[in-house]
Amino acid sequence: MTTALADFAASLPKAELHLHIEGSLEPELMFALAERNKVAIPFASVEEVRAAYQFSRLQDFLDIYYQGAQVLREEDDFRDLATAYFDRAAADNVVHAEIFFDPQTHTDRGIPFATVLNGLNAGMIEAEKKHGLTSKLILCFLRHLDEEAAFQTLKAAEPFLDRIAGVGLDSSELGHPPEKFARVFAAAGTMGLKRVAHAGEEGPPDYVHQALDILEIDRLDHGNRALEDSQLTTRLAREAMTLTVCPLSNLKLCVVDHIDAHPMKRMLDAGLRATVNSDDPAYFGGYVNDNYRALAGTGQLSREDFVTLARNSFLGSFLPDEAIARHLAALAAHVAAA
Ligand code: HPA
Ligand code: ZN
Repeated sequence: MTTALADFAASLPKAELHLHIEGSLEPELMFALAERNKVAIPFASVEEVRAAYQFSRLQDFLDIYYQGAQVLREEDDFRDLATAYFDRAAADNVVHAEIFFDPQTHTDRGIPFATVLNGLNAGMIEAEKKHGLTSKLILCFLRHLDEEAAFQTLKAAEPFLDRIAGVGLDSSELGHPPEKFARVFAAAGTMGLKRVAHAGEEGPPDYVHQALDILEIDRLDHGNRALEDSQLTTRLAREAMTLTVCPLSNLKLCVVDHIDAHPMKRMLDAGLRATVNSDDPAYFGGYVNDNYRALAGTGQLSREDFVTLARNSFLGSFLPDEAIARHLAALAAHVAAA
């Protein structure tokens, strides 16, 4: 029964809206790139890397994630990284992906912004040709760095704005509230960019309020802790704010103690436009369908809930209305035939 439900969920055409491309760097590719670029990494084997992926909070993960990203140096590295993700996503019936990248992780090491952007873009073009998988890029500011650094990054992005759909906010949440980036988000809005932010992963409900009211976000990344504030939950539901929820990430980073304690069912029952995403699949134990399957395994969600989640992934995307309508029609046809 559960397997049938998991298979059904996995079969659904879907969008992925919360994926850090640097977080899709599998240990095998990390080793290959370390060798190709002559970058030293503090691990002797792929097994040793995987064994190091034990986290008790967000910062534990971030420390190792930024270290892993050091092997990415050339345009081809970024293309190979993107291609590996898109091949894996296509196998999970992802037909559209809106992916985060962290330019500061690279420009701070002397890698030009253009190297990152052009490499990722080459992978995106290839994915559309090979799989028909469309994608968009979201530039994330690292919130542990200052406002000035974020402004410099936005400036570096200016020549590439035709290939960037929006800006986001990631990295260490606690102690770095959204209001720290009020002005840079306002500038991004003026430039016609969409705005999203990680909030309420570890941070309190007030950070979600700030993301809504000060950053004027179009989409909320994670948002788990919004559930602690019933008025905020009601507001998110009323405004049809999309939440990009990441169940296996929540488990690995101890945002939830057990997958059965994941609030996805509560989110749907509260009328929230929740979606399922993998966040950093190479680090958190799986790609998007592993997340759908993990939820199916809790026995809490129905077939209709999974259709809602897949529908929400398109409704919450930054695709034009006609593309969303096309994807929803294809999803409905798939469900009718299943
Ligand atoms: N949270 C915050 N920052 C991040 C994450 C995350 O889950 N993944 C990559 N950067
Ligand atoms: Zn994330």
